[in-house]
Amino acid sequence: MLNNKEITEDMIFQCFAAAKQCENRGETAASFIDVEEYEAQVMYPEFARWATKAGHPKLATLFRKVAGEEKLHSVWLRALYDDIGVPVHGEDTQRAIDALQTIRENCDALIEIDPQAVIEKALTVALRVEEREYGDIYPRFRDQAEAANDSETSAVYQRVIDSERQHAEWFHTALTDFRQAAAA
Ligand SMILES: [Fe+2]
Ligand SMILES: [Fe+2]
Repeated sequence: MLNNKEITEDMIFQCFAAAKQCENRGETAASFIDVEEYEAQVMYPEFARWATKAGHPKLATLFRKVAGEEKLHSVWLRALYDDIGVPVHGEDTQRAIDALQTIRENCDALIEIDPQAVIEKALTVALRVEEREYGDIYPRFRDQAEAANDSETSAVYQRVIDSERQHAEWFHTALTDFRQAAAA
């Protein structure tokens, strides 16, 4: 039973949707908003659900707090583009939604058996997600806006980068504390 209930870090990482830079800056913005709203409404609330179920209410609060800020990121950018509406899910977002659905049952079963392992992996993935966003993906979005002399948009992306870096710091601290508590 345990064998086919395994959850690896990479299986959880599949629940991350990468925003896609497009030639058209409006399409880049739509992909950004699509991904940020997915994180706010689906991915981090699911991680929070796991944390609650595993008996870690403080971590659940952290995941929900970050979810709220991802929502804000989309609001900041939406303010500059009034014609985006609800973006159609990008390919990667749809793939991530499906991946989350696929591991959901296994995660629930595993949390009953080994809650620490699932939560440690979720935190590790959250840290990887945030690092990739602030270190790689969003700097490219910012540079694209800058190259087009769109300083308003590039300033928003920069604000997002700073915020994602802070999320990474929060998750790094939470993961370190979590590991220390588990080892004690
Ligand atoms: Fe974000
Ligand atoms: Fe974030």
